[in-house]
Amino acid sequence: MLKKLKILDESDKRLRKVSDNVTFPLSIEHKELIKKIIKQLKYSQIEEKQEKYNLRPGMGLAFPQLGIHKRIIVIVEEVEENKFNNHVVINPEIISHSVEMIAAEAGEGCLSVNREVEGHVRRYARVTIKGFDEDGNKIKIRAREELAIAFQHEIDHLNGILFYDHIDKKKPILNEIEIRFI
Ligand code: NI
Repeated sequence: MLKKLKILDESDKRLRKVSDNVTFPLSIEHKELIKKIIKQLKYSQIEEKQEKYNLRPGMGLAFPQLGIHKRIIVIVEEVEENKFNNHVVINPEIISHSVEMIAAEAGEGCLSVNREVEGHVRRYARVTIKGFDEDGNKIKIRAREELAIAFQHEIDHLNGILFYDHIDKKKPILNEIEIRFI
């Protein structure tokens, strides 16, 4: 069974609010919610479950997308077929990043944006993130390529930023000289 999460749509102004830092210990409710998010993101990337529950595929979600303005992000990364790495980061901060920028060639998607958005989003190719795990232990994560994009996308949500805010309105489509695509 999967009780689907209610994810706010981009038309909802609550997505534009800046979220608050989290203090520890985490509440039981928040811990439960993290588990539910992991499950849904994972299911959304498994074809059979995706169809069964009619899920839009997605690898990340931030708490404000559920209307909860707390700095918590969850990323479920498929490392090989149907094998996943879960990343839960509380109060995440990008402490360093590459000079090199990349963009997802097909553009980015978001579970709060229920339409196709054309355009490339420039992101750092590599980022180092610090934050805390669910038990309040300090963590540091180095991410590159797709995972780096996911972290930047989710951290943006904590600051009320949606991916298309980064798309250049005058020149939404970049070419291979301007950016390295992944
Ligand atoms: Ni998103």
